[in-house]
Amino acid sequence: MSLIAPALTGLPAFDADTLCDEIVAQGWSVCRLADPVMLAALCDEAVALWQEDELSPAGVGRAKDHDVVRRIRRDKTRWLDGSSPAQTAYLAFAEALRREINYRLMLGLFAFEAHYAVYESGGFYKRHIDSFHGARNRMLSSVLYLNRDWDRSEGGLLRLYAPDSDRLVQEVVPEFGTLAVFLSEDIPHEVTPAGRERFSIAGWHRCNDRSQVPALQARTLPAGG
Ligand code: OGA
Ligand code: MN
Repeated sequence: MSLIAPALTGLPAFDADTLCDEIVAQGWSVCRLADPVMLAALCDEAVALWQEDELSPAGVGRAKDHDVVRRIRRDKTRWLDGSSPAQTAYLAFAEALRREINYRLMLGLFAFEAHYAVYESGGFYKRHIDSFHGARNRMLSSVLYLNRDWDRSEGGLLRLYAPDSDRLVQEVVPEFGTLAVFLSEDIPHEVTPAGRERFSIAGWHRCNDRSQVPALQARTLPAGG
C-alpha cells in the first residue's frame, strides 16, 4: 500500500500511475488519501447525518422485502448531492480521479455517484459484485473509509476476491483515509460484521459500454483457484 502525500492543489494527491497499473494487473488497488481537512469534514458530516437519523436502510436490487435485504446487507446510506463543502471537495477529487484514469486507461468513465454509508455494530454486507439494477454500467467502485483508530480486531473488513472465485486476495481495514478502488463487476467483495459504527463513502464511476474498453479487453485478471 502506498502512502500518498498531501496535495498543494486543494485536492488530495494520489498516485494515478500505481493505481492504474494495479487496476489493470489485478482489478483492485488500495491507497491512503492524506488530506486531513477534507477527511475530517467528511467524517464529521457522516457522523452528524447518522446521529440526526438522516441515513436510510439500503436496499438490494429489486428486493423490497425487508428480511431479504437484512440477510444480505445492513448498512444505512445517503447519496452525496454536493450540498456541503466536504461533499464538493470529495466530488472534485472523484472528478480528478476520473480524468486521470480515463487519460491512462481510456475507460470512458463519464459519471460518478456516491453515498455515505454507516454499518452500525453487527452490520455487514454479504459477498456480491456491484451492478446497478441489472444495468451493466458500473465500472469502478471506490470506498473511502472515515474511521479513526480502527483496529483489525473490530472487524468491518472489506474482503476482495479474485474474479469468479473464492480466492481471497486482499483484506482492507476501514481505517481513516484508506481508499479501496476496484472493478465493480469483476471483483467480488464483502464486508465482515463491524464491531462498532463504521463510516465510509462508497462511490461508482460509470461508463457507457465496457465491452468497448480496450484496456479491459487486452488484460486477463488472475483467476481464482
Ligand atoms: C458497497 C460495498 C464496501 C465497504 O457499498 O457496495 O461493497 O467496504 N461497500 O463498505
Ligand atoms: Mn459493493
